[in-house]
Amino acid sequence: MKPSPKKKTSHKRKTFYITTPIYYVNDVPHIGHAYTTVAADVLARYKRLRGYETFFLTGTDEHGQKVQQAASHHGVDPQMYADRMVVAFKELWEHLTISNSDFVRTTEERHKRVVQAVLQKLQERNVLYQASYEGWYCLPDERFWTSEDVVDGKCPECGRPVEPLSESNYFFKMSAYQDRLKRHIRKHPKFIQPESRRNEVMGFLERPLKDLCISRPRARLSWGIPFPFDPDYVTYVWVDALVNYISAPGYGSDERRFKKWWPADVHLAGKDILTTHAVYWSALLMALGLELPKTLFAHGWWTVDGEKMSKSRGNVVDPNTMAAEYGTDAFRYFLLREVPFGQDGDFSKAAVTTRYNSELANDLGNLFSRTLTMIERYSGGVVPKPHPKAVKTDDRRMAALAKELYKTVGQEMDRFAFHRALREIWTLVDFANRYVEQNAPWNLAKAPKNQARLDTVLYHLAETLRILAIYLFPFMPTTAQRMVTEIGWTTPLDQAIKPMDYHWGKLKPGRPVQKGKPLFPRMEPPTGITKQETVEAATPSKEIRMESTQTEPSLITMDEFRRLELRVGRVVSAEKVAGTDKLLKLSVDIGTEIRPVVAGIATRYAPDLLIGKMVILVANLKPAVIRGIESRGMILAAGDKEVEALATFLEPVKPGSRVK
Ligand code: MSP
Repeated sequence: MKPSPKKKTSHKRKTFYITTPIYYVNDVPHIGHAYTTVAADVLARYKRLRGYETFFLTGTDEHGQKVQQAASHHGVDPQMYADRMVVAFKELWEHLTISNSDFVRTTEERHKRVVQAVLQKLQERNVLYQASYEGWYCLPDERFWTSEDVVDGKCPECGRPVEPLSESNYFFKMSAYQDRLKRHIRKHPKFIQPESRRNEVMGFLERPLKDLCISRPRARLSWGIPFPFDPDYVTYVWVDALVNYISAPGYGSDERRFKKWWPADVHLAGKDILTTHAVYWSALLMALGLELPKTLFAHGWWTVDGEKMSKSRGNVVDPNTMAAEYGTDAFRYFLLREVPFGQDGDFSKAAVTTRYNSELANDLGNLFSRTLTMIERYSGGVVPKPHPKAVKTDDRRMAALAKELYKTVGQEMDRFAFHRALREIWTLVDFANRYVEQNAPWNLAKAPKNQARLDTVLYHLAETLRILAIYLFPFMPTTAQRMVTEIGWTTPLDQAIKPMDYHWGKLKPGRPVQKGKPLFPRMEPPTGITKQETVEAATPSKEIRMESTQTEPSLITMDEFRRLELRVGRVVSAEKVAGTDKLLKLSVDIGTEIRPVVAGIATRYAPDLLIGKMVILVANLKPAVIRGIESRGMILAAGDKEVEALATFLEPVKPGSRVK
């Protein structure tokens, strides 16, 4: 008999490499910089929690005309200026609890060396040539444009005036990679996300791609990395900057490390720098014979109180101030909850306060503090032991929902849908809040015979909060760590936790709980919001809350109502669902997306009659599968038994508008 071959088991850990753009140091960081970096941090923390070894890179872009100009404006040399400015970025990342693994500065030796090696390699591979360049130059953007690009003497990207320019330069044969790049994008649907951005890049690639001017004569711009084979030139700042993604993980210096991390899993960037990443960077990587990053995700831009953010308007949002005012975690939460990642959004203090008071102070904070207070009061301050015989259906449902989060939150995170991941998490927060009201532990506590049930209810709440904290950790790391610690589970969440820790029942009965200060102390609304708008969000004392829910069980608070996300929808298609008389399958346009909705209105409405009708959609209803069709929302209609009339609007309204 032959000996059976030894099984080879691989112990290689899964890896995840994520980057932010590297930020120009010509000015202090604002909310736009904070947004990309917080999003990257959330993904990095999420992946670490799921067992991935993670390399999270951020840094600063320190060469180029902008920085040189800012330095001379301040009367210092560019390096000194960059050294000074970089501190503001590093301090902000600390303030926002950013867990980056490395911070690269383009003026560091380790980076400059790699940029020169890259240029040398491109030269050897015969993809560079020298030519005279006649064009237009946008000084603030540091971009050359051709006459066809320029719009009325202005930069097509930023709208500022351009200047004529003619000089000899080095060019990279970017045009040679056009077809390969198109094929790559077609073959890899996840390469450029969201899809609208992918289409944008494909559209850009429909026109013949030009070669890229990658040098600047030193006589005109001295603040850059010199060409290794021609000291009269420095490197174009974008080529210098993009190379950070490979210089930091060890390209050209530590091949083993580089192989471990490259290709990057995700480059995050704002929509304004999509072309430089999707086209320039891809072509450069192809020329170097390196793989392309797996995903390039372009997010949207923030306006402030409905206006473009700019220094001249004086409305630039300082992330430090926001974190100081609302707390780092609440600020992080808001950035990712308010706007679907990929779309533009508007920042206002009123919006932060509303979400803070209703979702953080009320829904989450209150659930947490009530639970701990009740454990202190009714269980001697230790996690009680659940009694198998006292477990009821509702308890099992809550545990099942907690278990489902592993999949549902994971799916949304993997799609970069942070707001949806948070919505999934909130289904459990909401469930737990209803559970408290329905089980009224303060009533159970009145009779000793209920002790087993009381213990079981309190255990279920504590365990739910422990599991919630794991899912909240990527978004609100400090709060989540406090939650688990106060509830008697001392595991550090910033390390990969064990897969078992996601399971129900890991919280050990008998551990002391430790109630601290409120997680999210209530906020006063900023001036401009009426008291009325937030008065309902104010938490009455615990006793009053408990009382009121006992005497007025059918009334809901304004907060509960606000949790309903009602949106205007336009029916774009409707068809009967096979095998039933009642159901129609609708596609409903809500501005940002088209929702499939299964509605029981077929006995009242023929499908064709509905096309183009404006309806009210409950947009944050948990998706359901009805007759094998996914339904994502519900439309409102009147009628006690049968549907009599669909709810619609008296005046024209835009799909997606909020109904309130
Ligand atoms: N240095 C280049 C990036 C080189 S990466 C190889 C750069 N730096 S930047 O400091 O100007 O911008 C960095 C990021 O901030 C970009 O992703 C940009 O989209 C983002 N934002 C700038 N203003 C913004 C908003 N108002 N809203 C959201 N993000 C915004 O470009």
